[in-house]
Amino acid sequence: MTAKLNVNIDHVATIREARKTIEPSIVTAAVICEQAGANGITVHLRGDRRHIQDRDIELLRDVVTTYLNVEMAATDEMIGIAERTKPDAVSLVPESANEITTEGGLDVVGNFETVKNAVERLKAAGVFVSIFIDPNIDQIDAANKVGAQQVELCTAEYAELTLSARAAHGEGEQKAVAEVNRIREACVHAKSLGLIVAAGHGLTYRNVAALAAIPEITEFNIGHNIISRAVFVGLNQAVKEMVDAIS
Ligand code: PXP
Repeated sequence: MTAKLNVNIDHVATIREARKTIEPSIVTAAVICEQAGANGITVHLRGDRRHIQDRDIELLRDVVTTYLNVEMAATDEMIGIAERTKPDAVSLVPESANEITTEGGLDVVGNFETVKNAVERLKAAGVFVSIFIDPNIDQIDAANKVGAQQVELCTAEYAELTLSARAAHGEGEQKAVAEVNRIREACVHAKSLGLIVAAGHGLTYRNVAALAAIPEITEFNIGHNIISRAVFVGLNQAVKEMVDAIS
């Protein structure tokens, strides 16, 4: 079965926040993505509110008819917002103030009690819980122990290895193949525990196929590359191309 695509529309809000204005509309973006074949919409409500704002979550909750997945840190403030707005899913992610984007997966092993508490609160509110982690067996086991229903495996390292055409040859290619194998083994382990498996971060039209061939992965969360392509071909076309690349 073809994996689902949730389009991360954070960077539509990045353009809006560059001017602190009302356009481009996050609501219009979500509707276009859904009409183009996206299975869901993903946004990251960051502590620093650099792109998505609290009001966006409320608007999207009313408008998104497919699946709304909100990425957030496991803080009291964020869990409270999820309890109130009730997205379909929350993906717990690590966050640090000066990062350009999420840097690697959440350390569930090292933050076990905090993450467990967040998962319990979210599940009690009827929200499906995913945790963004590195493709690492100990982190998968910890995500399972804290009660997560899904893990989203961080593909940042694979993305880095496949960034340029030059990297895709010789030694770079071997490293990328090794990383795909590491991700595949992590997927098999997660599924054997009963976890649903998603993947994301840094995925592109050029590198997604190797991961789309892993049957355990049932969902991709992809943002920057789709929004970048949308600048040139429009959002509708950009989403359709990613749906095609996955299938
Ligand atoms: N998944 C998670 C957990 C993320 O934090 C991000 C970035 O917000 C993505 C997927 C999407 O990454 P990209 O924008 O590089 O496609």
